[in-house]
Amino acid sequence: MKPRKDEVLEKAKKNAALEAVKHVKDGYVVGLGSGSTAAYAIMEIGKRIKHEGLRVLGVPTSHQAFLLAVKNGIPVTTLEEHPALDLTIDGADQVDEKLNLIKGMGGALTREKIVAHSSKKLVIVIDESKRVKTLGENNHPVPLEVLPFAVPLVMRKIKKMGGKSVFRESAGKVGPVVTDNGNFVLDAYFGLIQNPEKLECELKVIPGVVENGLFVGMANIVYVGKSTGVETLKNKRSRQTC
Ligand code: 5RP
Repeated sequence: MKPRKDEVLEKAKKNAALEAVKHVKDGYVVGLGSGSTAAYAIMEIGKRIKHEGLRVLGVPTSHQAFLLAVKNGIPVTTLEEHPALDLTIDGADQVDEKLNLIKGMGGALTREKIVAHSSKKLVIVIDESKRVKTLGENNHPVPLEVLPFAVPLVMRKIKKMGGKSVFRESAGKVGPVVTDNGNFVLDAYFGLIQNPEKLECELKVIPGVVENGLFVGMANIVYVGKSTGVETLKNKRSRQTC
């Protein structure tokens, strides 16, 4: 019998995650990403702790990642205790040809960016559907974490920049999505993003924008999972500074 489409997708995500977890070595402090693909990596790290006696500590990027880490027997730590991480494994929503990313459809972008910047290496795990030539393709938004007080100002600024922002509503309750940090999320649409470096810096200076979902020059390796294997994309990390 032919596998179902969702089974093929889950297999692809898992394949990418398993490849990424091969980077984890004994004694590492690892950033634990959020979302359904990163979840496979967390589960695999848990398995290696159980079966190989691997000693690692995890810094979760969200409440979801925290709970999953605890469930899978990964001891968690904080950036206060371990400010410099060996590695972070995380998912992404779009990845362009230079390995720039859009993240944050799960609303965890701020902690994800802080943890990624604290890590020597950022390994991204995706399925093929996330690969694009140019960020913003298929009308994909850039998620923004925004202080509730600043929402009207940020919406006006995005409009002035030629974009359009949509307030993210919760699927699980009435009203807004509230992030793990108590903020709201705006999804900002800019069409094709030809210069993500510039856009990231323009978003950074809007008062009340806590963080934006553009991760420019951050990823070292992207594993693109397929149902039959994994493709590896590598990059020299340049790290964006505005
Ligand atoms: C959450 C994220 C996720 O990593 C991103 O949304 C990808 O998630 P998934 O692997 O479930 O597609 O950035 O803020």
